[in-house]
Amino acid sequence: MPTPLMHAHPAGLRRAQLLRMALGISVGAALPAGALAQGGAATAPLQTRPIPSSQEPMPVIGCGTWIGFDHRPGSAEYQRLAGVLKALFDAGGQMIDSSPMYGRAEETTGELLSAAKTHERAFLATKVWTRGRAEGVAQMEQSFARLRAARIDLMQVHNLVDWRTQLATLREWKAAGRIRYIGITHYTASAYGDVEAVMRAQTLDFLQINYSLDQREAEKRLLPLAAERGIAVIANTPFGGGGLLRRLQGQPLPGWAAEIGCTSWAQVLLKFVLGQPAITCAIPGTSRPAHMADNAAAGRGTLPDAAFWRRHAASLAV
Ligand SMILES: NC(=O)c1ccc[n+]([C@@H]2O[C@H](COP(=O)([O-])OP(=O)(O)OC[C@H]3O[C@@H](n4cnc5c(N)ncnc54)[C@H](OP(=O)(O)O)[C@@H]3O)[C@@H](O)[C@H]2O)c1
Repeated sequence: MPTPLMHAHPAGLRRAQLLRMALGISVGAALPAGALAQGGAATAPLQTRPIPSSQEPMPVIGCGTWIGFDHRPGSAEYQRLAGVLKALFDAGGQMIDSSPMYGRAEETTGELLSAAKTHERAFLATKVWTRGRAEGVAQMEQSFARLRAARIDLMQVHNLVDWRTQLATLREWKAAGRIRYIGITHYTASAYGDVEAVMRAQTLDFLQINYSLDQREAEKRLLPLAAERGIAVIANTPFGGGGLLRRLQGQPLPGWAAEIGCTSWAQVLLKFVLGQPAITCAIPGTSRPAHMADNAAAGRGTLPDAAFWRRHAASLAV
C-alpha cells in the first residue's frame, strides 16, 4: 500500500526517489553502487528515464506477467515468483505490468506483494480489457481487489478495446486519484494506424507497444510521435515473446557485447530496445528470479544509442 508520504505528494514519491533526494542526487541520475542494494548485493541500481507528463523517474527495466505469473499457489512455478519480484526490487526496478487477460497473474502479484509487504516499492500497471462503461468499471474494481492495491499507478486500455468508453472512465478515475497515469496498449503493427490516431487525438501519459530486434516497425511513426506528444513508452515483448532468445540460444555473444557490459543475449536485446530514447522502460516477462536479475542488469551501465545499433544490429542472425 502507498505510504503516508506517497499520499502527501501528487507524483507519489517512491523509495528510490526519496533516497536520491536524501543523497542530493538529481532526478534521472544513477544512484551510487549499492545505495539501494538489499542483503549485501552491492550492485548499481537501474538507470531511470523521466515519465514525460510528470518527470517522475522510471527505472528502465520492469517485469511483465503474461503467462509467467499465471500460476496457482502451491505449484513449483508459483514458489519461484516471490524471488522474481525480489530480484526486480533489489535491482531498483519498479514496474510490474499485468492485465485481467492474464489468467490469475493480477491475483498472484497482489498475493506476493502483500506477503512481502512490498506494495510501496512497485509501480503497478494493469489494463482494462472489456466493452462497456459498467463492465470496465467492474473489471477495474476487480483489478484493485486482485492486486490488493489502494492505488494503481497506471491503467491502460488493453489492445484499444472500446477505447473511447474506457478512456473516459480512466480520466475520471485519474482526476479522483484512484490511478495516477492512463495509457493504451497494443502488440501488433497491423493496429498501428489506430494506435497513432488515438495518440494524436487524446492526451495520454503512456503508450505500451511491441518493440524488439525483430519487430521494429514502431521506430517509424509511433516512437517519434510519442516523443513529440510527451507520451512515455513501455516496450512489451522485448524478446519477441521469447522467440528471439530461442533463436539466439547457443550462438556466441558478439565481441562488442562485452564493450557495452552485456553478459547474455537477454541483456543485448534489452539494451537494443533501450537504444530508442523515446522508450521509457521495457517489461520483459519472466517467471524466474535469475532471469529477472539478468534482465535488470541490462538497465545498468552503458546504453548505446540508435547509431550504435545501426552499425551492429544487422550482424545479429535473428
Ligand atoms: N497488448 C499488450 O498489452 C501486451 C501484449 C504482449 C505483452 N504484453 C506485456 O509485455 C510483457 C512482455 O511480453 P512477453 O512476456 O509476451 O514476451 P517477452 O518479454 O518478449 O519474452 C518472455 C519470454 O522470455 C523468457 N525470458 C525472460 N527473461 C529471460 C532471460 N533473461 N533469459 C532467458 N529467457 C528469458 C521468458 O521465460 P522465463 O519465464 O523462463 O524467464 C518468456 O518465455 C508481458 O508479460 C505483458 O506484461 C502486453
